[in-house]
Amino acid sequence: MSRPTVADAPGVMRTEGWADYALLDSGDGRKLERYGSYTVVRPEPQCLWAPQKPHLWAKADAVFDPAAATDDEDAGRWRFQGRHEEAWPLAWRDVRFLGRFTAFRHLAFFPEQAANWAFLDEAVRRAGQDGSQPKVLNLFGYTGVATLAMAAAGAQVTHVDASKKAVAMARENAELSKLAERPIRWIVEDARRYVQREVRRGSKYDGIILDPPKYGRGPDGQVWRLFEDLPELARLCGELLSENASFLILNAYAERISGAALSGLLAEVLQDRGGRIDWGELALVEDGAERQIGMSFYARWSQGGAP
Ligand SMILES: C[S@@+](CC[C@H](N)C(=O)[O-])C[C@H]1O[C@@H](n2cnc3c(N)ncnc32)[C@H](O)[C@@H]1O
Repeated sequence: MSRPTVADAPGVMRTEGWADYALLDSGDGRKLERYGSYTVVRPEPQCLWAPQKPHLWAKADAVFDPAAATDDEDAGRWRFQGRHEEAWPLAWRDVRFLGRFTAFRHLAFFPEQAANWAFLDEAVRRAGQDGSQPKVLNLFGYTGVATLAMAAAGAQVTHVDASKKAVAMARENAELSKLAERPIRWIVEDARRYVQREVRRGSKYDGIILDPPKYGRGPDGQVWRLFEDLPELARLCGELLSENASFLILNAYAERISGAALSGLLAEVLQDRGGRIDWGELALVEDGAERQIGMSFYARWSQGGAP
């Protein structure tokens, strides 16, 4: 087959907020967001501008205070105003999940990923239009919102994450979403090791999404480094795509990665697959404002009926 057509300019996949999430304001190196009924302030060095709604900030329920000099650049602690729950229910379309104040500045899911969830939802529904149940893989799946979005759309999902705790939270989210009876395989495993084994077995998937961290560890201490290890993992994922596969999405948050870099890698590993490659960044769009914050980079190969 021919080479994929690669988009010649980046795209922005915009998340505009929904009932349970909003980017309320941003500026002075921070962002003010709403997660259900909680408003939170988190550091965001990219916000080089001034806030437009200064009156809203003082009422925030929680403010993240980054730790001085630690190994993990995202580490720190929350300071609360008043009472708060440890976990509280949130929803995106038919998927329900718990928000939590983690020590790594996020709320146990990544709202900008809603743009990917919407793509996955539609891609799975289209792939299943012939009555089949598309088989999809979510690597580095964390608390599972992408997994649940695909399961809700009718996919058979394999969810892989190295962390037992993350998989336990994802399963809890599946219960909450009333999707626990759907065909989801929950696997605590090193992503690379799992994919190597699947290639040896000759397994195939109709869609794959992976959102690897810059640095991570498998359950047996296997070290994962994005820049060193992504090329081989992407190549193996290419081998796992079925003949009629409809998507392969790479997402990354690391500094110094870019959508262009991810698309170059996808174009290489999928050089005889046809289809098209879109690439760019995922952005959060501020409520009632033109402003947007670029959050992560993506490259996405799609084919056939994919949106
Ligand atoms: C950035 S989060 C992924 C976010 C997720 N895609 C989402 O949208 O919620 C990174 C995840 O990778 C997992 N991880 C780190 N190293 C891993 C490895 N070697 N194999 C599998 N999972 C790993 C972590 O446990 C964590 O849950």
